[in-house]
Amino acid sequence: MTVKDIPIFLRACKREPTEYTPVWLMRQAGRFLAEYRSLRRQYPFLILCKTPELATKVTLLPIERLGVDAAIIFADILLPLEPMGISLEFTKGEGPVIHNPPRSRAEVERLRGIEAEEDLPFVMEAIKAVCRELKGRIPLIGFSGAPFTLASYLIEGGGTKDFVRTKSLMLQDPSCWHILMEKLSAAVISYLNAQVRAGAVVVQLFDSWAGILSPRDYEEFVLPHSRRIFHELSSKVPAIHFATGAAGILEQMKTAGGDVIGIDWRIDLDAAWRRLGYDVGIQGNLDPAALLGPPERIESRVAEILHRAEGRPGHIFNLGHGVLPQTPEENVITMVEAVHRLSKDK
Ligand code: CP3
Repeated sequence: MTVKDIPIFLRACKREPTEYTPVWLMRQAGRFLAEYRSLRRQYPFLILCKTPELATKVTLLPIERLGVDAAIIFADILLPLEPMGISLEFTKGEGPVIHNPPRSRAEVERLRGIEAEEDLPFVMEAIKAVCRELKGRIPLIGFSGAPFTLASYLIEGGGTKDFVRTKSLMLQDPSCWHILMEKLSAAVISYLNAQVRAGAVVVQLFDSWAGILSPRDYEEFVLPHSRRIFHELSSKVPAIHFATGAAGILEQMKTAGGDVIGIDWRIDLDAAWRRLGYDVGIQGNLDPAALLGPPERIESRVAEILHRAEGRPGHIFNLGHGVLPQTPEENVITMVEAVHRLSKDK
């Protein structure tokens, strides 16, 4: 096996030189794809997640069509909450709803620990099936929510704009907060390591909402828990650590861990990488709205980001957050093709 046989996405995660910049999209296995929308007319979202044949099919949908350099398993960050004793529903228009959000210490203490292989077998089966189909051509990413982002959905009972309940628990009952974060961290570790055993070769930790915290609160209430996760993760696979709005906590995210730090578009990629240091990789950071068009602007924005990355090993091209459901498929193809063409021989 020569270096050229190792997929370029994996090499970039390890900051090794690649012939071109690898690219994938967060939420690439989802609603912007017509075939996904048609499957969703037949099946509720959670059924898609829990039926390995369907989850496998959805995972593979964007692979041939878009020419991306990595697959991400079709699942959701909220799935591990169910076996912890949480009643989860995805409602039309409102997104996730948690019917029994823990609001007292007793309720937090009642949350169960999970064994991911036994409690979420459908995810591991889907991962195995996807790996059989991909045959090592492109790598499969496993993922989990980070404890802070999971805690926010759990405590708020769903999505939120102001995170008032989450911050209240954190600041008013720190010891209860830490118990909750420890329980979530244990679940995340079990979940990610099971995904690696099933065949995921890279993992991404989504701390999507960590950027709403002050740096000092991130340091006290989140960082120790995220750090524990990276320590207890199977050391065999590279890990990507992602958050949005993270300009205030970049250095701390690096301290928490991850071989690659994922950023959104609110900070220039070169400025972020300079602050992080070149001993970690960087993932990002096109504004998902840029994919609404026109194609010439998509290409010029891609060129700008590649210019900021300066062809340095360790850049993985991605959006700064999930692809918008309104995105035309052909615009995603334009982006992927532009990343590959413009980054060649840089
Ligand atoms: O990236 C991929 O394509 C893999 C699959 C994936 C999904 N969710 C499928 C999904 C991944 C990686 C996620 C991560 C996820 N889920 C995050 C972190 C990333 C981020 O966007 O910040 C979060 C916060 C969630 C929780 C979640 N799941 C919300 C808030 C919602 C509703 C709003 C929305 O974006 O749709 C979901 C539903 C969801 N997860 C869908 C998909 C394809 C849409 C379900 C549908 O078909 O209606």
